[in-house]
Amino acid sequence: MSPELVLKLSAPVPRYTSYPTAPHFHAGVTAAEYGRWLEAIPDDAALSLYLHIPFCDRLCWFCACHTKQTLKYDPVSTYLDALIAEIGLVGSRLGGKGRVTSVHYGGGSPTMMKPDDMIRVDAALRTAMRFDRQAEISVEIDPNDITPDKYAALAAIGLTRASLGVQDFDPKVQEAINRIQTFDQTREVIDQVRAHGAGSVNVDLLYGLPHQTRDSVEATLRQVLTLKPDRIALFGYAHVPWMKKHQTMIPDKLLPGAVERFAQSNRAASILKADGYQGIGIDHFARAGDSMAIAAREGRLKRNFQGYTVDSPDALIGLGASSIGQLPQGYVQNQAASGEYQKAVNGGALATVRGYALEEDDRLRARVIERLMCDFAFTGKALVDEFGAPAEALLDEARYLIDADPEKLFCRKGDRYFITAKGRPFARSVAASFDAYFGVGEARHSMAV
Ligand SMILES: C[S@@+](CC[C@H](N)C(=O)[O-])C[C@H]1O[C@@H](n2cnc3c(N)ncnc32)[C@H](O)[C@@H]1O
Ligand code: SF4
Repeated sequence: MSPELVLKLSAPVPRYTSYPTAPHFHAGVTAAEYGRWLEAIPDDAALSLYLHIPFCDRLCWFCACHTKQTLKYDPVSTYLDALIAEIGLVGSRLGGKGRVTSVHYGGGSPTMMKPDDMIRVDAALRTAMRFDRQAEISVEIDPNDITPDKYAALAAIGLTRASLGVQDFDPKVQEAINRIQTFDQTREVIDQVRAHGAGSVNVDLLYGLPHQTRDSVEATLRQVLTLKPDRIALFGYAHVPWMKKHQTMIPDKLLPGAVERFAQSNRAASILKADGYQGIGIDHFARAGDSMAIAAREGRLKRNFQGYTVDSPDALIGLGASSIGQLPQGYVQNQAASGEYQKAVNGGALATVRGYALEEDDRLRARVIERLMCDFAFTGKALVDEFGAPAEALLDEARYLIDADPEKLFCRKGDRYFITAKGRPFARSVAASFDAYFGVGEARHSMAV
């Protein structure tokens, strides 16, 4: 693909971990509304829980997550008291309905929690809600803050999946992003989480970082492959200094441009494929026998706020400051400021400050965008079967887009509408053409590649 075309197609677009995307959530969805949505959850609903731990003991300059650096433990422990209060509030609204099929601890760095606190939070969850015996317990692990006593606690809470942040092993890159982490340290953590219950290990890598080149990305990847992770997430660095002030520590002039980013991502993808990994959606790879690879082949892959997942819950319940929930009625988001969050839940109120109640057109577009982001394709029949006449109108839109697309990124064969091999790196841009809210309001996004 020509450099001119890559530049043209790299205009900023959302990552589509929801539709509508979070900047379109509004204050019309209140804590009272969320309470009613929880109470309406059916008896046998499968529930997925997301717990946000917004603390780290260091701040990586590239980080776009909602987190805060703290070297003291008091703020973490006070926050966990509030999180446990929120678990109790949600549990009482559920009133014993639903069964938890998966729990994901994210952050920030959940491994900031002391072992006793990991066990305290897990016990609160299991007291407030009914758990499936097979429930998946996944934890984001920061290899820099995990200590030997924490592995036993992870095993005690039933760890089944671990996801480690790695990003890059090149010392020059690590210095520029303020994240020093050696290969040996990473290998030790992977060995330990596997020995303590993680049947599946994911590693997060980044391209598009300062000083990275195709060769340096390849060198990191080759080291990572010796660790045989079950899954690899390969994210393009999202440089959003207008949202994350500390990213200004990464000067724009050190960043590779769109054409180099595209080349780095292509080099990494071809190495992974040659090593037997299957590409999953826009930024994941998994061994062919991994449940995510199987789900992708069978068209069962899903996308939510945590990215790609094989989970298909009836409701995703977000717990903790800034957490987002996804219920049959729509989305809810908690207060992001942890002081305000703690005040609300300690005072006995849910901490919802915004959300979005889905209309029929939103559900139809959400389905199209999710299938494009997961399968790069959808069929007209499946849409019409699910949504009826409004889907026919959307298919007209799709055909118009195809006719108007000189680059042939998006095509149709019979009833199948699909993103072409050439268009796959720009799947977010194709998805954006079905987004009725794209360009409405002030939201700014990261580069498409
Ligand atoms: C919560 S962190 C992972 C757990 C742990 N805190 C750690 O860093 O090891 C989530 C992941 O998001 C990704 N990430 C963070 N900031 C990003 C950005 N600006 N652009 C792209 N990916 C980013 C990183 O790959 C990171 O590993
Ligand atoms: S990348 Fe992980 S450890 Fe680094 S600041 Fe972000 S959440 Fe914390």
